[in-house]
Amino acid sequence: MATDTGVTSDPRAPGLWDPETDNRLVCIDVHDETHDVKSFTLASPQGKRISFEAGQYFLFEPAIDEEENGRCYSISSSPLRSNAITVTVKRVPGGKVSNWLHDNLKPGMELPASGPMGKFNRPKAGKYLMLSGGSGITPVMAMARELADRAEPVDVIFLHAGRSPLDLLFREELSVLARRMKGLRLIFLPEVLTGDPAWPGLNGRISTALLALVVPDIADRTILCCGPAPFMAAARAISADLGVSPERYLEESFDAAVIVDLPTPAETLAVAATFKVEFVKQQKVLEVSAEQTVLSCAKKMGVRIPSSCANGICGTCKSKLVSGAVDMKHDGGIRQREIEAGFFLPCCSKPLSDLVIDR
Ligand SMILES: Cc1cc2nc3c(=O)[nH]c(=O)nc-3n(C[C@H](O)[C@H](O)[C@H](O)COP(=O)(O)OP(=O)(O)OC[C@H]3O[C@@H](n4cnc5c(N)ncnc54)[C@H](O)[C@@H]3O)c2cc1C
Ligand code: FES
Repeated sequence: MATDTGVTSDPRAPGLWDPETDNRLVCIDVHDETHDVKSFTLASPQGKRISFEAGQYFLFEPAIDEEENGRCYSISSSPLRSNAITVTVKRVPGGKVSNWLHDNLKPGMELPASGPMGKFNRPKAGKYLMLSGGSGITPVMAMARELADRAEPVDVIFLHAGRSPLDLLFREELSVLARRMKGLRLIFLPEVLTGDPAWPGLNGRISTALLALVVPDIADRTILCCGPAPFMAAARAISADLGVSPERYLEESFDAAVIVDLPTPAETLAVAATFKVEFVKQQKVLEVSAEQTVLSCAKKMGVRIPSSCANGICGTCKSKLVSGAVDMKHDGGIRQREIEAGFFLPCCSKPLSDLVIDR
């Protein structure tokens, strides 16, 4: 069929992935990136095209055992390649899902998956500093790949820090991209030189002195940062030191946020109401204050609820509320139809009454 743009569209084409209804991906390729990192390429089993923005992620829920095993993985591939997504996963010592993916996910296998989700997107700006530590490179790699695919002029400094030269991710591909993209400058920063004592560049950790030296115009750049919590804390402090305004510093966290419920001064004066929260499957009943999230209290009292972002973003902690009411302040981790079906996110919900939860 010819459209008015002259493009021919095939009415039998499988169409677009619908994040509301599509919920399975099939693995089509597995690739070793380093000794402990693999990339998995996944497509819709029906061949649907997947539309997403660089910086977004998918939630995978492999059936490993009786428990729920939802984990988020940022898409590392370019959004301009819509037939399949790639995620790049680091094997975490003792980690359940990353090890399962490394040891079990093979081409042809299907996986429950939902997404794309997340708001870590690249705002329009003249100059960027992409700052990544370890597997935190994945969302910014998607952005770099997108910029390369768009073939537009760019001004990007891409700094990737890793444990040793052998841990630096996408080194060859980024070097090829930097030869093609005139405005892309790379800085690889291994912390130690194990495996490559003749490493020709800088090594160590990011610091104010190092960033002032290698990115002298940092205050003019929009910063996109992702990495382990201590790396991001350092990046945030250094950026502020070097004059980057907070609205131009954007970050994505892979670590579950530290769950603390500190009372505000007003709350320390007023005694907060408490409610009875029952976890049916685990046969536990807790007293939860109206000022505490259900997840933080559950964790402290040994009730198991899977969680990842602890900020209402990823959907990992989604649970069925059998009865009661909560004050939920989510950030996209749950859909309206799921709320209507009685689900909620314990990580960003405080009780408004006694609750019964199907966990
Ligand atoms: C938005 C987002 C995007 C992400 N993108 C990526 C990505 O692109 N690539 C990537 O590699 N990761 C990414 N992650 C992290 C990923 O979701 C997982 O957290 C990571 O793979 C670890 O999961 P796991 O199941 O292997 O480890 P888990 O089983 O969750 O364990 C994590 C750690 O806790 C320890 N642990 C587990 N249970 C216990 C216990 N009972 N007592 C003591 N210690 C325990 C484990 O030993 C391990 O060190 C992302 C996370 C988020 C939130
Ligand atoms: S843990 Fe991510 S939404 Fe609750």
